[in-house]
Amino acid sequence: MYTVPELEDYSPEALDRAVADLIAALEEESHSIADESQWKEFRDRWMARKNGVLTQVNDAWLKAAPGPQKREVGKRVNELKASVEQKVESAHESIAGATADKAIAAERVDVTLPGIRRELGAEHPVIRTMNEIVSVFKAMGYSIGTGPEIETDYYNFESLNFPPNHPARDMQDTIFLAGQEHKAQRDRLLLRTHTSPVQIRTMEKQKPPVRIVIPGRVYRNDAPDATHSPMFHQVEGLAVDTNITFCDLKGTLDHAMKSLFGSSVKTRFKPSFFPFTEPSAEVMISCPFCGQKGCRVCKQSGWIEMLGSGMVDPALYGFVDYDPAKVSGFAFGMGVDRLAAMKYGVDDIQLYFEGDVRFLRQFA
Ligand code: DAH
Repeated sequence: MYTVPELEDYSPEALDRAVADLIAALEEESHSIADESQWKEFRDRWMARKNGVLTQVNDAWLKAAPGPQKREVGKRVNELKASVEQKVESAHESIAGATADKAIAAERVDVTLPGIRRELGAEHPVIRTMNEIVSVFKAMGYSIGTGPEIETDYYNFESLNFPPNHPARDMQDTIFLAGQEHKAQRDRLLLRTHTSPVQIRTMEKQKPPVRIVIPGRVYRNDAPDATHSPMFHQVEGLAVDTNITFCDLKGTLDHAMKSLFGSSVKTRFKPSFFPFTEPSAEVMISCPFCGQKGCRVCKQSGWIEMLGSGMVDPALYGFVDYDPAKVSGFAFGMGVDRLAAMKYGVDDIQLYFEGDVRFLRQFA
């Protein structure tokens, strides 16, 4: 390794030689710097105030120079100082560049590697069934209606012809929101127990004719078991126009059931009661699983209860400013979860809501 020599003579030639040796050493040592810590060593070796090469040069060459030569030696030492500083700086730049090159090389995309596979989700079987029901009605010209899941007593009950304290309310074990007591009863909030409030909301906004299907989530205070869940799904339907009759209701629902379960399925209408329809009917379909021979699904009866329906009770038109002398309509509502369970042979609807991917993956 280079060491600073004592100068025996201060002739220009001798100075030139000494300077050239030093520059050559500086050059050579700068080539072997590979990283930051080697660069620091290099910098300190040449520039450290205490015993760096430049300090040694200052002592050995300048301070030792005889008076007349001091000027000349001083000039050379200054030039050397500038050269060393410049070299130290450029050496740093080149290792910084090399480090950046390395980082870029490390990040370079290898296009031959397999890509990151994002697993595609799939429609939940309940949502898929709901969409199937909706599309049957869309094909008949129905549009989709939606409304809030947190409803007022007014929309969920009163405007659907369930007066306060009417026993029909007991059929729907309701989940009420806490802290509503200070409000008038009609403004108190609850989780909607059915999709029927969207009938009223739609008729408030829209003049007849109305043809809508309303898919959505509903809530009741039922303990979860194989056939009950405090949260479940319904698809509601409403058609209001001039001259709508019970025949339209029967024809529409018969067509819908055949579209969903196959054209050989028959429908049967059984008298029932809902406060918002008059007359009301329970719709049954002939069991598509056993062709009415009797099976577990139809409980050996050959018939399966599918939905509630009826002619819109004219009392409802009073709540939405429709003229009952001019318009008539029908409505229906069906549970989606039970239908999906039947369709896929699932014997416990809790499986739909537990979110176990081993179960759900079977439908993907
Ligand atoms: N809202 C009823 C329920 O949840 C179902 C229903 C029955 C809806 C008859 C209707 C209807 O629109 O006409 O029990």
